[in-house]
Amino acid sequence: MEEVVVAGGGVIGLSCAWRAAQAGHRVTLWDPAPTAGSSWVAGGMLAPVTEAWPGEEALLELGLESVARWPDFAAELAAAGRDPGLQTAGTVVAATGTGDRAELDALADHLARLGRSVDRLTGRELRRLEPALGPDVRGGLSVPADLSVDNRTLLDALRVAAEKAGVVVEDRAYAGEPAETLLICAGAHSAALHPALAGLVRPVKGEILRLAHRRGAFPVPGRTIRALVDGRPVYLVPRPDGLVVGATQSEQGFDTEPTVGGVRDLLRDAERIVPGIAEYGLTEVAAGLRPGSPDNVPLIGRLDERTIVATGHSRNGILLAPLTAELVVGALRGEPVPAAVEPGRFGRTT
Ligand code: GLY
Repeated sequence: MEEVVVAGGGVIGLSCAWRAAQAGHRVTLWDPAPTAGSSWVAGGMLAPVTEAWPGEEALLELGLESVARWPDFAAELAAAGRDPGLQTAGTVVAATGTGDRAELDALADHLARLGRSVDRLTGRELRRLEPALGPDVRGGLSVPADLSVDNRTLLDALRVAAEKAGVVVEDRAYAGEPAETLLICAGAHSAALHPALAGLVRPVKGEILRLAHRRGAFPVPGRTIRALVDGRPVYLVPRPDGLVVGATQSEQGFDTEPTVGGVRDLLRDAERIVPGIAEYGLTEVAAGLRPGSPDNVPLIGRLDERTIVATGHSRNGILLAPLTAELVVGALRGEPVPAAVEPGRFGRTT
């Protein structure tokens, strides 16, 4: 079995390290700030269906494969010491104006053509499911199969499980230490670690808020609520003690400073969908960097004789973690990866 050095301790790096150690590899994982990356900032949605857009059918298939693995993945983590907090209540998608409703209808039509029907509901029907939804919600969708997980508990659970399986975690940056196999899982920073990734992985900034439920405030919704408000997407992901509200999307290099405009948009749009959040506490404002790829599909597989990559997960890193780890362990065994994730698919010679 090989000695594997993992560069990056987010959800992808930890998941791959854990599974590689379970498969018998000697694994060391390097990350200078494991709780500062995009996995820490994230909302934790496991949402292949409500992230499905026309033209991204390969991503939908990968997401569906991965979400099916999540219950066992979470149960294994719980058995290893820490329950990651998988939420199985599902997702509703809400629309306000006519344009937003037309866009959700187009998404529902697209999914139906792919054989993935979702329930279309009126505003009243949605409010019956989720009483926290406000009167501006005029219609939308119910998608019980889109789940969520507490990303921060998940990181903790993965580290516990990885260390239990034998992974050595170094809280320092990978600086070229020799290894039989280097596994690059450094998210938006991955391109700096191998020339074949130059121009293929870019940072996509997302601002996100954390709200705490306060005594007397409207109860925390049971389901993830996604919405379109005058064309702007917003989501509210429940936690036991509040909500995570996200997320903006912009490309400004490695900038992680939240902006006034981003926070204003998120608060205004979230309050239109769930008016009760006005009584919640605002406990955190943050920005993370999604690792964007040219087609939003991750790059997973071998780059050269001694390097494997798992990055470019764009908006779906947490969702795709179980599948990614499985594909990486297969790649360590010399097995091919699906063409959709093959890092050479953009015509680069590696
Ligand atoms: N998956 C949600 C986001 O990237 O904002």
